[in-house]
Amino acid sequence: MFARFVVPLAALAARVTAQTGAFEPLDFNVTAALENLGVDVSALPEPDNSTIAERSLFQPCALACTSLKILFGDGKVLTEGTSAYDSFTGGYWSAQQGSLNPSCVFKPAKTLEVSTLILVARLYQCPFAVKGGGHAAWAGASSIEDGITVSMESFKQTTVAANKQTVDIGPGLRWVDVYKAAEKDGLSVVGGRMAPVGVPGLILGGGISHFSNKLGWACDNVASFELVTASGLAITVSATSYADLYWALRGGGNNFGIVTNFKLNAFPQGDLWGGQRIYLEDQFPKNLDAIYEFAVNGSPKDLDAAQIITFASAPGVGKVSFANLHYAKPIAEAPVFAPWANLTTIADTTGLRPMSGMADLLNQGAPAPGAYQTWWGINLKMDRSLLSFIIDTFYAQEATVADVEKILLIMAIQPITTGALKAMQKNGGNALGLNPTGGPYFILNFNAAWNNVADEPKFHHVIATIISLIKAEAKKRGLDNDFVYLNYASEYQDPIGSYGAANKARLQSISKKYDPSQVFQNLQPGGFKVTKGAPNPNVP
Ligand SMILES: Cc1cc2nc3c(=O)[nH]c(=O)nc-3n(C[C@H](O)[C@H](O)[C@H](O)COP(=O)(O)OP(=O)(O)OC[C@H]3O[C@@H](n4cnc5c(N)ncnc54)[C@H](O)[C@@H]3O)c2cc1C
Ligand SMILES: *[C@@H]1O[C@H](CO)[C@@H](O)[C@H](O)[C@H]1NC(C)=O
Ligand SMILES: *[C@@H]1O[C@H](CO)[C@@H](O)[C@H](O)[C@H]1NC(C)=O
Ligand SMILES: *[C@@H]1O[C@H](CO)[C@@H](O)[C@H](O)[C@H]1NC(C)=O
Repeated sequence: MFARFVVPLAALAARVTAQTGAFEPLDFNVTAALENLGVDVSALPEPDNSTIAERSLFQPCALACTSLKILFGDGKVLTEGTSAYDSFTGGYWSAQQGSLNPSCVFKPAKTLEVSTLILVARLYQCPFAVKGGGHAAWAGASSIEDGITVSMESFKQTTVAANKQTVDIGPGLRWVDVYKAAEKDGLSVVGGRMAPVGVPGLILGGGISHFSNKLGWACDNVASFELVTASGLAITVSATSYADLYWALRGGGNNFGIVTNFKLNAFPQGDLWGGQRIYLEDQFPKNLDAIYEFAVNGSPKDLDAAQIITFASAPGVGKVSFANLHYAKPIAEAPVFAPWANLTTIADTTGLRPMSGMADLLNQGAPAPGAYQTWWGINLKMDRSLLSFIIDTFYAQEATVADVEKILLIMAIQPITTGALKAMQKNGGNALGLNPTGGPYFILNFNAAWNNVADEPKFHHVIATIISLIKAEAKKRGLDNDFVYLNYASEYQDPIGSYGAANKARLQSISKKYDPSQVFQNLQPGGFKVTKGAPNPNVP
């Protein structure tokens, strides 16, 4: 009873290429496109022609989910009231995302099934969300109430090219699996730093890596994307094929289609040196000296180095900092780390490990999935005295929520080095709107995690307050920068707008070219949209 599929995608692509200008004709016929994919549309329920106002009675998503079941069987379509469905919604990093209940969860296993999904969603006008590793924190980023959640978890390919220049990786992978696969061939790639984080969201939003000072962000090191567009076409997007889309996918998030494969540039890589050092408050001024020195002087001299410093309070200990130091060569204590050398630590895990080992180590002590989470990020110009202001402001405000039960409330300083900014310009550059002349910058990001749902406004409010105090001071000192990193942005922030008016307009025109009926803007409402501002304008 499953529909049989033939694969006429090449034929469909040829027809599109023959059209002048538009990627999808204005009179695009979804039913005909489904038939082109080999779907027997007569076996599916009749679409609901009623007006939008009447429509809730007809449950377009119930029809869409029924169609997916007819086409693909119960194994790939989970519905409410089953343990598989519950374990899926319970599998998000944040409780907020897991709290939404989709009409069904669809788990495509092939590109053709992703094409079919998009057309089925269009046929019934049922909204959908796409989930990779599920590490975005805010509700609706990769989850949806009453729509279809498309889980990419079955796409787990890790194929190293014969020439070892690239590796094909699937959007269902977590970074630790990517590193383990690449390490078998003595290779690595530019990707995430913590083991369980998902591949697709991290790359499409940017992707900060230990290798970024030399190579740029993850999105800058994708040789090509396999992308399923709004009309269900699977296309290969690279610097030489759909170059405008290639630029847009480097930071443009989920606005242009569903990625089914990332061909990442690979490079030979043995063990790295690195780990974490923990300090008490008396070392904070030296911590700030060290991260400043790295951002301004150290990083241009040694492109193999990466450094982050994170601030928090620990029960019974007080104010603490965590320095994450990484070096892409198997050399301990390279000169670029000298400013950290004589600081008094209370714990030190630095040592030699492969990338997969570093990813596991960095994840140790991270809160278990399923807590309430919020992430926020801003961008500032590197300046030593601003760093002091930031630490003082953070701890003064943090004290106002000292009595609120929490798992953590942290603030991290991550330099965006001139090396990273230069490497972002390769192959036509990315959509982020950052250029080397303004740098070095640093991302200041905040993460809170807690267990009591009622405490959410308190954490949102304290972080929003810290950010507005710091932004105001930075503006006064001429050190502010608009950039908001999409992968750290809260629902109250507008990362796409932060790329600058020209880049946003270019992203919108690319969206209209490849998705004229704006499927990924309207039928996929979650994530940060090129046609909208902050998902939630009411900053607490
Ligand atoms: C513990 C932790 C560590 C982190 N470490 C880093 C780090 O080292 N570097 C860094 O840069 N960031 C880091 N981040 C941020 C991370 O990049 C984001 O959370 C990112 O969204 C994770 O991707 P995902 O696939 O897990 O997310 P998801 O929540 O699954 O997806 C995020 C977005 O991508 C879209 N999407 C997912 N799959 C696809 C697809 N196949 N095609 C098109 N769109 C898709 C979704 O619709 C959604 O809008 C970290 C986050 C956490 C929680
Ligand atoms: C769309 O295609 C279907 C199937 O080929 C056809 O029956 C229908 O008439 C078409 N609709 C329009 C508006 O052309
Ligand atoms: C939709 O419209 C068509 C043609 O007007 C009709 O045959 C069909 O029964 C309608 N479907 C529903 C669900 O109302
Ligand atoms: C660290 O201390 C040692 C011993 O006191 C000294 O020799 C070395 O120069 C110091 N290194 C730095 C970077 O200050």
